[in-house]
Amino acid sequence: MNWQKSLKNKIKTKEALKNHTTFRIGGPARYFYEPEDYADLAEVLKLAKKLRIRVFILGAGSNILVLDRLINALAIKLSNPFFKKISFNANFVEVGAGCALSQLIRACVKHGLSGAEFLAGIPGALGGALIMNAGIPNKNIGDLVENVVVMDYNGKIKTLPKTKIKFAYRKSDLSKHVILKANLKLIKKNRNEIIKALNAYMQHRKLTQDLRRPSAGCIFKNPKNESAGRIIDSCGLKGRKIGGAMVSKIHANFIINHAKAKATDVLKLVSLVKKQVKKKSGIDLEPEIKIWG
Ligand code: EPU
Repeated sequence: MNWQKSLKNKIKTKEALKNHTTFRIGGPARYFYEPEDYADLAEVLKLAKKLRIRVFILGAGSNILVLDRLINALAIKLSNPFFKKISFNANFVEVGAGCALSQLIRACVKHGLSGAEFLAGIPGALGGALIMNAGIPNKNIGDLVENVVVMDYNGKIKTLPKTKIKFAYRKSDLSKHVILKANLKLIKKNRNEIIKALNAYMQHRKLTQDLRRPSAGCIFKNPKNESAGRIIDSCGLKGRKIGGAMVSKIHANFIINHAKAKATDVLKLVSLVKKQVKKKSGIDLEPEIKIWG
């Protein structure tokens, strides 16, 4: 297929997506592209539309489970430094969609700006974090948003003010666009105080979550006023394995890829956990992760 001509970089074929997800699971993408800038992104989106090829946008690959087979789609990764820029204006920060949350937090500390500390330890990039409205109980990234700049699938760019965006617990209506960047509102604070808060969030994560082995973060959303991890734990499911996938012994809402797990192992384990939880507590757990296939 000759759709390469008008693009600035090379389209890769059969790129192993397991190398682009925090779960380290997933088959190859039929096409894989890392655009150079907005014009190049617009061009590849238009080409994909013309050729009727499905498009997936990859950030840090932290909240997805990619199936084991060939993914008949174009995976676009916003990995070029162009998509990771951070700039400050008074107490506002403008962040590119491909920027890792860890990098954003470091920059905020440097500028003495507080408000994003609770994102510490979330292994995502800005775009995915906005789509999922990432956060912790009672604090979500959507609360910081002033506006989000998006591109539609025809390559047209527009700015959505916060009043035009719907954020809810672990979801938003941003997934119908490609996120380019966002403006977040923070507050000036003493740097030592920011670092203290940051360390407390990190410490909680280190003590309570399985951060050393590949996972996709929490697998299920928390039911209202409850913790999915606590419920799964109370069903005695910690350590339960299927193939290479295991319910973490540290936090029961994490599934760990402990031995070259397949996506099917994870899906079977998700289904087993859902069934046991339903049987023992009557609660229907809703997955938080997105499945690509
Ligand atoms: N708990 C257990 N057993 C477990 C896990 C938790 O009993 O295996 C208990 C804890 O002891 C605590 C309560 O459940 O009393 C809540 O646990 P935790 O503080 O770990 O919070 P969570 O509700 O399980 C949520 C988010 C996490 C976020 C933490 C930060 C969701 C689905 N999870 O977890 O987000 O890091 O708060 O405290 O909203 C993610 O979304 O991917 C994620 C990891």
